[in-house]
Amino acid sequence: TRIIKLAVIPGDGIGPEVIEQANRVLDAVLEGGDVVLDRTEFALGAQRFLETGETFPESEQAAIAGQDAILFGAVGGVPGDPRLQHANIERGLLLKLRFDFEHYANVRPCTLFPGVVSSLAEPGDVDFVVVREGTEGPYAGNGGRLRPGTHAEVATEVSVNTAFGIERVVRYAFETALTRQRKKLTWVHKTNVLVHAGATWQRIVQTVAAEYPEIAVDYMHVDAATIFMVQDPSRFDVIVTDNLFGDILTDLAGAIGGGIGLAASGNINPDGTFPSMFEPVHGSAPDIAGKQLADPTAAILSAGLMLDHLGLVSDGERLRSAVRADLASRGAATRSTGAIGDAVIAQLMPRGA
Ligand code: NAD
Ligand code: IPM
Ligand code: MN
Repeated sequence: TRIIKLAVIPGDGIGPEVIEQANRVLDAVLEGGDVVLDRTEFALGAQRFLETGETFPESEQAAIAGQDAILFGAVGGVPGDPRLQHANIERGLLLKLRFDFEHYANVRPCTLFPGVVSSLAEPGDVDFVVVREGTEGPYAGNGGRLRPGTHAEVATEVSVNTAFGIERVVRYAFETALTRQRKKLTWVHKTNVLVHAGATWQRIVQTVAAEYPEIAVDYMHVDAATIFMVQDPSRFDVIVTDNLFGDILTDLAGAIGGGIGLAASGNINPDGTFPSMFEPVHGSAPDIAGKQLADPTAAILSAGLMLDHLGLVSDGERLRSAVRADLASRGAATRSTGAIGDAVIAQLMPRGA
């Protein structure tokens, strides 16, 4: 029996609702096999902050560091809640996890499954994966606010791009492209304006590309990438881009792939020094929270990415087959969060079938 230590951080809003279903599906997928999940739940997020004033205690971070993987729901309070004005749960918890655990490859697949309705009238073949840099860029927190509240106020938010940080994610993206049929890598930036970071990215992509002659490489400015993603998403196979561009492109990709409720992600530490973290691309959705209206499919597919990462690829495939079968027969009817979990479990093929 293999015991996998799993940290579960359900978070806020719809986070706990979708994670409940992901956990049910995980249990159903692993049932009868020789893998056991040893779960530890961590009550972190805006709710925890409101109750205790704590964002991410060190002792809990140390406990999470010792786990094999992390399943994360979503965090974020109700917009405009004055009690959260000076709390930044997103930076203090979610980004801290990504940064401290060196989740430098934020992998966000976009596949339009049969039976799923895209936001695009004629989507064509949609099957690409965005490898978003996860630890630096404009997210680094490098900046400041001078003379706040005055006419002379100045705010800076300086993007940090290190050769080390770029090279490791670019290499990861080339390796990802090698595993795919089309073997195509598009790197996306804004080199015409962000000339400094752009030149560093370009130098590193070109250097690494020389080691991967079998990969076709092209470049796109991020603004143009949004056009092509809407007009002809089939031209994308693997995309590698910086942290902020990747954030924006993957919400767009979510809409193209059938909705943000289907978009899964993995925050990968490929070196295995720290646990990798799996979470839906979406947030806590305060507008629908507490009503069982959230689609848990993104969380379920994120759990599938976790199974792959843990080497349980055939279990990951069984999970995805069940999701695919459910999506193919879903139709237009709206179902509750729990009903979608039930339906996916009902579609699971028996082990070894
Ligand atoms: P959001 O992703 O929470 O919601 C955007 C829209 O998508 C909303 O209309 C919401 O109802 C809908 N939606 C999201 N997930 C859905 C699902 N599973 N099923 C059906 N509909 C779904 O983005 P937002 O409103 O910009 O952010 C809300 C809060 O979440 C903010 O505090 C933000 O910082 C936080 N956030 C957290 C994460 C995370 O924890 N990983 C990610 C994004 C946003
Ligand atoms: C995401 C979210 C996060 C991000 C926020 C909540 C910090 O939007 O996971 O896409 O910007 O990375
Ligand atoms: Mn986002």
